[in-house]
Amino acid sequence: MTEETRLIHSGLAQTPLARTVGPPIQRGSTVLLPNAAALYDHESQVTYGRQGLAAQSALMEALAELEHAAGVTLYPSGLAALTGALLAVLKAGDEVLVVDTIYKPTRRFCDTVLRRYGVGVRYYPAKLDADALMAACGPATRLIVLESPGSLSFEFQDVPAIAAAARARNILTLIDNTWAAGLLFKPLDHGVDISVQALTKYVGGHSDVFMGSAAVKAPNLVRALDDGVLNIGWAVSPDDAYQMLRGLRTLATRMARHDRSARQIAGWLKSRDEVGQVLHPALPDAPGSDIWRRDYSGACGLFAFTLSPGRPSATAAFLDALKIFGLGFSWGGFESLAIDCDPQLAGRSSPGDYGGPLIRLHIGLEDPVDLMDDLDQAFAAWRAAT
Ligand SMILES: Cc1ncc(COP(=O)(O)O)c(C=O)c1O
Repeated sequence: MTEETRLIHSGLAQTPLARTVGPPIQRGSTVLLPNAAALYDHESQVTYGRQGLAAQSALMEALAELEHAAGVTLYPSGLAALTGALLAVLKAGDEVLVVDTIYKPTRRFCDTVLRRYGVGVRYYPAKLDADALMAACGPATRLIVLESPGSLSFEFQDVPAIAAAARARNILTLIDNTWAAGLLFKPLDHGVDISVQALTKYVGGHSDVFMGSAAVKAPNLVRALDDGVLNIGWAVSPDDAYQMLRGLRTLATRMARHDRSARQIAGWLKSRDEVGQVLHPALPDAPGSDIWRRDYSGACGLFAFTLSPGRPSATAAFLDALKIFGLGFSWGGFESLAIDCDPQLAGRSSPGDYGGPLIRLHIGLEDPVDLMDDLDQAFAAWRAAT
């Protein structure tokens, strides 16, 4: 062989690999098959890298454990997981009922792509109970989409009751379970058919990787989601899958800290004159607190509160004065964040009146005392501007 050929064929994958704690990060589009018969044996082995190699398989296995699922599919973002799961189970002529408090980009997908492909879309208020929701279903209703709690205004839905009623009518249910990160609430154990989460948030935990997952129990849904990924051609990189696996190892520990700090800050906010209501489910009088206590094993770091009514510029003064809290749309990372929600509420069928400007906080892993000091000085800026 000439040097040209030797350079192409030296330094290739070694077998067997040394055993590390985590899976190897196998980079591969091409998978080398052992013989001619194996080339088309797609059932019993991976024949192409897009199907996912060691890191992606390990992540799917770990997420199945987390979600109590029979099958998990991975997508390049949380939004792709939501849209991918919708595409996998809906067809032209079907109708989907979507909770009005849904994550806004999911709504945009329903209003544009789903409608363009002949799927009917209707929105229902988050407070609708199972009976009223069933009464709202029509003969074409194939799927009910839930998000509990809503990630801006924190309405909790009675998920087990809705899932049971839908199942009795042969209607599928899908939930965006990102707030619970698959950890605090187990939708599949409560009868939901498809549990979706943006791994980008708490599972990743470091605000630097995108990914989403859909978890299911029923064999026909495992097949439908697998086919959906295969047909559309989604793939996630082994490096990103490895980052998600790494995040999973500390998910429970981080979440306990997010929860403790967020409860402390929510209780403190409740005592402030600048604050109207605090939408944190662990506060006894918060909307949805009863459902949360019944179904969830804890809370994450994401909640909202209303500022007392004041001039619109006072809301901006409050946000602009924050020094430790960043202004940004994501959550689930180690850092604290804040946004004003009102511009997003306007896109809903019924925007709701929360009694004052709605501010969402993500409480990160910083010392909660420092975070309260930061909020305290931002309240001073709000008072000066009100
Ligand atoms: C509730 C909820 N679901 C889904 C997503 C989408 O996740 P991704 O950013 O990974 O697409 C987000 C992102 O903010 C979210 O807040």
